[in-house]
Amino acid sequence: MKISNIASKIRPSQTLSISAEANMKKAMGVDVINFSAGEPDFDTPENVKQAAIDAINDNYTKYTQYEGNIELREAICDSLAARGLEYKPEQIVVTNGSKHALKNAFSAIIDPGDEVIVPAPYWNSYIDIINMVYGVPVVVETKKQNVFKITADELEKAYTDRTRALIINSPNNPTGVMYTRDELEAIARFAVEKDIYVISDEVYSSLVYSKKSPHISIASLGDDIYKRTIVVDGLSKKYAMTGWRVGFSASDAEVASAMANIQSNSTSNVNSIAQVAAIEALDNGNDVAADMLREFQHRRDYIVQRITDIPLLSCMIPKGAFYLFVDVSKLLGNTVGGVELKNSTDVARALMDIYNVAVVPSDAFGYNNYIRISFATSMRDIVEGARRIEKFVKDNY
Ligand SMILES: Cc1ncc(COP(=O)(O)O)c(C=O)c1O
Repeated sequence: MKISNIASKIRPSQTLSISAEANMKKAMGVDVINFSAGEPDFDTPENVKQAAIDAINDNYTKYTQYEGNIELREAICDSLAARGLEYKPEQIVVTNGSKHALKNAFSAIIDPGDEVIVPAPYWNSYIDIINMVYGVPVVVETKKQNVFKITADELEKAYTDRTRALIINSPNNPTGVMYTRDELEAIARFAVEKDIYVISDEVYSSLVYSKKSPHISIASLGDDIYKRTIVVDGLSKKYAMTGWRVGFSASDAEVASAMANIQSNSTSNVNSIAQVAAIEALDNGNDVAADMLREFQHRRDYIVQRITDIPLLSCMIPKGAFYLFVDVSKLLGNTVGGVELKNSTDVARALMDIYNVAVVPSDAFGYNNYIRISFATSMRDIVEGARRIEKFVKDNY
């Protein structure tokens, strides 16, 4: 039987496939170090789990408002206010993870053939989600000398009369870079002048390592950009709640209402129990989140040092998120295990097959010559994984 053209264009998420391969090897008894997963290795905080148990016992198990329980939307507004963003509950849609908020957002603003500017390296799902709504992703390769950040000049070159939106992801997956106020102001000027939307993926906004350069949301830079921005965020990364599937969007009320209508006819509300857990996380989970952040920082500092010490490899210090973007260009051209390493996918394959280390090649993020190491894993695995990567280079170069 035929599947639709659009479905045949959609690829499985490469990061999830690599992680699944690592988990399969582990299940077969292989000691794999999994640096590919984009999720905290911590358990969900106890009080959050208890709130969910209480919700079940209290029979909070029926449909909720499809845009999300009002108390949760209020708690989301409070948490956004704490970072300088004023929203009312009617501007919030609670979604099945921030991935779903992205799907709602593109469904609400894209007509077939409309273009969305996506700076590369990008989080891999952007492309597929835009394709799913018959949009056209226009990928702009950012430059290493611009620290992988898109500039207003590059945006200008990518712009056409079909451009409807651009995506900003700060802190960024896979690079860990963050946009400064000046850089965001330039992007905001561009978006306002062209009258296009900005999808601001802020899912890592709470994972920022320096108090001196805090996360800034482009939506906070004035009324004109505020009303054109759809902020996408969620609880997965901050509160170690990836499996609960709670995300949200914050936007102009008209766009929020369009997204809520779409959601009401597709998934309806997010699981009622997860919504109660989310309220508890937002209201009382910040101390645990701060502890996790400190631990991530400790791991970051360790892995940055270890990778920097390995000849032929280099990386920048990520300012946010939990990924290290490692330049492997100097490894290309050599033959390892009988295979010539031609690109980052070959490097990642050799690491997986011979050294049992799972990393994500930058090819998955629309960029050449890098691998992404997630340090959202235990210190034991980070120490051992760094040792294996060092051995890989020593053995073959
Ligand atoms: C940049 C980015 N955006 C969105 C998501 C989706 O997260 P979730 O749907 O769990 O909120 C991820 C997950 O890895 C991500 O890295």
